[in-house]
Amino acid sequence: MAFDLVFFGGTGDLTWRKLMPALFQAFRHGKLPPGGRILAVARDDRTDEQYRAFIQERFSEVDSSKRPSDEEFAQFAALLHYRRMDLSQPTDYQGLKAWLDERGAETVVLYLATSPHLFPVICEQLGAAGLNDSKVRVVLEKPLGHDLASAKEINRVVRSVFREEQAFRIDHYLGKPSVQNLMALRFGNALFEPLWRRESIANIQITLAEGLGVGTRGDFYDRTGALRDMIQNHALQLLTMIAMEPPSSSDADAIRDEKLKVLKSLKPFTATHISRDVVRGQYRAGTVDGKAVPGYLEEVKVPAGSACETFVAIRTEVQNWRWAGVPFYLRTGKRLAARDAQIVVNFRPVPHPIFAGGSRANKLIIKLQPEDGLELQLLAAKGNSHGESLTTVSLDLDFDKAFPSERVGAYERLLLDAIAGRLNLFVRSDEQEQAWRWVEPILDAWAQDSGDLKTYAAGSWGPPAASALVARDGFAWAEEE
Ligand code: BG6
Repeated sequence: MAFDLVFFGGTGDLTWRKLMPALFQAFRHGKLPPGGRILAVARDDRTDEQYRAFIQERFSEVDSSKRPSDEEFAQFAALLHYRRMDLSQPTDYQGLKAWLDERGAETVVLYLATSPHLFPVICEQLGAAGLNDSKVRVVLEKPLGHDLASAKEINRVVRSVFREEQAFRIDHYLGKPSVQNLMALRFGNALFEPLWRRESIANIQITLAEGLGVGTRGDFYDRTGALRDMIQNHALQLLTMIAMEPPSSSDADAIRDEKLKVLKSLKPFTATHISRDVVRGQYRAGTVDGKAVPGYLEEVKVPAGSACETFVAIRTEVQNWRWAGVPFYLRTGKRLAARDAQIVVNFRPVPHPIFAGGSRANKLIIKLQPEDGLELQLLAAKGNSHGESLTTVSLDLDFDKAFPSERVGAYERLLLDAIAGRLNLFVRSDEQEQAWRWVEPILDAWAQDSGDLKTYAAGSWGPPAASALVARDGFAWAEEE
C-alpha cells in the first residue's frame, strides 16, 4: 500500500525530536509499508538534500540505541522530501496537491505538527484545495485547543472539511505499550473483571511524574500549565481506560463510546470541590538526581511572578454503579523526585484479618515508564515463625523482557496506525470536548484567583497538600506507604 505522509511543521521540534526518530524505528523494524514517501513542509527554502542533512544532524541528539548508522540513514533518507509552503497561500496547497496527485498513493496522511492556532487555517485550505477525499487522513497533535470553546472551534473546522473517521487526534500516551496492555489485562483475561469494581477496589491513583523541568519551553508552558498539558489529555485518557465498561468489540467506536461514558460520569466540579479536591503547585529550586536545579520562576522565558502550575493533584469520582464512592486520584508534575508514570489499583483489605500486623492490601501497579510492566503485590507468609505478620511479595512482569524484540514506541505505533487507518488509539472529538468540559471550571476558578498556588521543592513529590488530599480519605500515595 503506497502512502504519502506529509508533516506540516516539518522543521519543528516535534517533527525532528519525536516523529522522524519514530519513523526511522518503523523503517528499521521493517514495519513501514513499502512505497512510502515522507514530505516535510515548512516556511523556509530548502532542497530535499538540505532537509535530509538537517534531520541527520538532529538525529545525533536522539538516544544512541535509536540512532541510525550512516548507511541506515542513507536508506531512510531516500524516503524524505521537502517542500516550502506558506500555509496561508491557496496556491501552495494546490502545488502540494499536484505533487501528491502525480504519484497518486492510495493513502495520504497529513500530520499537523504545527502550533494548534494554525489547525483551522490549514484544514480550510486543505479543503479548498480538494485535499480531503476519502484517501486522506489528518493527524492532529495536542494541544487541541486551549479550552472548550477553542477545541470546539478546531473540531468544527475539522468536521467541515473531513469526516470524523478521517481525523486522527493524537494522545501519545495511548500509543504506549503498557496502555495497550491495560486493555489486554482487562478485556483479554477473565481474572480481574469480577474484582474491577467498588466492592473490591479502595482507590485508584494515576501518577505522571517527570524529573525534567520546562527546559527551553518556558513560554509555551507558561501559557499552558500542567492541567492543560497533562491532565486534560494523558491522565484523563488513562482514567477512561481503567474505568471503562468492557466494549462490545475492539472497534474504534465501540471503545471510544465506552471511554466517553466514563468522561461523562466524572464528578463535575463546583467552586467548593475545586478548593477541596484540586491542588496546584509550582516548583522552587531544589535537587533532582543529585543536581541543583532552578525554580520555575528562574527558568528561561518564564514571565516574572507567573502563577502557572507545574503540578496538579486531583481527587475525583466516576459516578456510576461500578465505581460509586471510589476515589480516583490524578497527579502530575515537572521536577518531581523521579520520572515515573504509573497507575496503582489499591484493592480493599481482607474483611477480617486473622494474621498479626493488621491488614495490608493487594495492589496492582501498571507501570508505564521508565519500565513498562505490571506488578501484582500479594501478601505471603515467610513461614519461619509462629504468628508472624505477612510480608508483601510481588509478581513482577517486565514487558521489555517478556517481548524483547517486539517493543514499539508510542509515536511509532501511532504513526503506523494512522498510515493503516486504525483509529482505536486516537481520541474522538466528543471525548476531547468532554475532557475540556470537565477541566474548564478549574481553569476558570484559577483564572480568577491564583491565591491557592502551593510551592514545592524540585526533587520532591509535590506540595504537602497533595499528600493531605489522599490522607483525608485514609489513604496514601504509593511512595508514602
Ligand atoms: C507532552 C507534554 O504531551 O508529554 C510534555 O506536552 C511532557 O510537557 C510529555 O513532558 C511527557 O511525555 P512522556 O511520554 O515523556 O511521558
